[in-house]
This record gives sequence, structure tokens and C-alpha cells, in this order.
Amino acid sequence: MSDETQTPTLTAKSPSASKTVQTQLVFPEHANALGNAFGGQVMSWADMVGGICAMRHTGGLAVTASVDDLQFEHPLAIGDIAVVEARVNAAFRTSLEVEVSVWGESMHTHERWLCVNARMTFVAIDAQRKPRAVAPLVPESDDDVRRMREASARRQERLAKRKK
Ligand SMILES: CC(C)(COP(=O)(O)OP(=O)(O)OC[C@H]1O[C@@H](n2cnc3c(N)ncnc32)[C@H](O)[C@@H]1OP(=O)(O)O)[C@@H](O)C(=O)NCCC(=O)NCCS
Repeated sequence: MSDETQTPTLTAKSPSASKTVQTQLVFPEHANALGNAFGGQVMSWADMVGGICAMRHTGGLAVTASVDDLQFEHPLAIGDIAVVEARVNAAFRTSLEVEVSVWGESMHTHERWLCVNARMTFVAIDAQRKPRAVAPLVPESDDDVRRMREASARRQERLAKRKK
């Protein structure tokens, strides 16, 4: 059961501890006039799965602060399997960079293709809706270390943009 009165701990966590995956079929109600998943629907899935990943890391509520250049690489058609994956790339003071990838998968051939890749920033908030500190991220692999380093560089760019 959810208990908002509990203060989340700041125990360091690995990226694998909060990795989040959602798998579902693309249905007609998700589609545009071309029979492909509507862009807003795909963004909604990305925001939901990215948000759950952020909340698993932070142990409480987190809000979406920004989304870096989001590109639709390839469409998802009705009947395709949509796999939405999110992982924390880096934890800062009160914010996190979460990378979200949306993949299409054919149920017939099992082929997979990238639909969307986006880096999203989530900010942990307390009961007063003010930013609160997040637990550190502990890398477990060279890939985790590389992601943390690259995310820190992107954060500098975001902060500079925000200042402007
Ligand atoms: C995101 C939000 C909580 C930030 O609040 P704020 O008072 O501006 O807080 P601060 O300036 O202290 O920034 C808090 C953190 O957010 C980060 N941040 C704020 N705006 C950001 C942006 N546009 N992009 C990336 N990071 C951002 C800051 O870098 C800081 O991170 P750090 O503590 O890790 O260094 C606030 O702007 C907000 O509530 N926005 C609306 C969120 C929303 O409604 N989302 C959609 C529904 S979930």
C-alpha cells in the first residue's frame, strides 16, 4: 500500500533496481488515421514508464521536468508489440535523467526496431510539492559509468539552456 507520510530513504541504488519495462499490443484505439500508434500515445507511454522508473529510484513522487530532443525513428502499427523500457542514467541533487526507449516487436518474426528514444528529466517532490533530494546512483558496469558521464555533460547543457 502507498504511504505518502513515509520519508523516502537516500540509500544508493543501482540502475537495475529501478529498470522498468511495459509490454503491450498496439490496438486500434492507440492508432492514427494511418493505422500507426499516435505520437501522443507513444509519448504518454514513455512518460508513464519513465515516471515509474524515476519513482522506483526516488521512493516517492517525481514529476516530469523536461524531455530532450524526442525523435520518432520508426512507426508502430496496429498488431505490433510495443515494448517500453526505462532506466536511470544519472541521479543528481533532486533530479534524475531517465532514458526511455520504445521498441516495436513483430509477433510473427520477433524482429525488433526502435520507435522512440528519449532522455527525460524527472524531479523528486515532497508532500509540499517541493523538490527533494534523491538517492545516489551506483553504477554496476562500464556501460552504467559511461551513461552517468554522458548524462552529466547533457545536464550542463540543460542547465545552460534553462539559464538563458
Ligand atoms: C520541475 C519542478 C518541480 C522544478 O521546480 P523548481 O522550483 O524550478 O526547482 P529547482 O529550480 O530547485 O530545480 C529542481 C531540480 O529540477 C531541475 N530542473 C528544473 N527544471 C528543469 C528542466 N526544464 N530540465 C531539466 N531539469 C530541470 C533542476 O536542475 C534541479 O535539479 P537538481 O536539484 O538535480 O540540480 C517545477 O518546475 C514543476 O513542478 N514543474 C511542473 C512539472 C509538471 O507539472 N510536470 C508534468 C506532470 S508530472
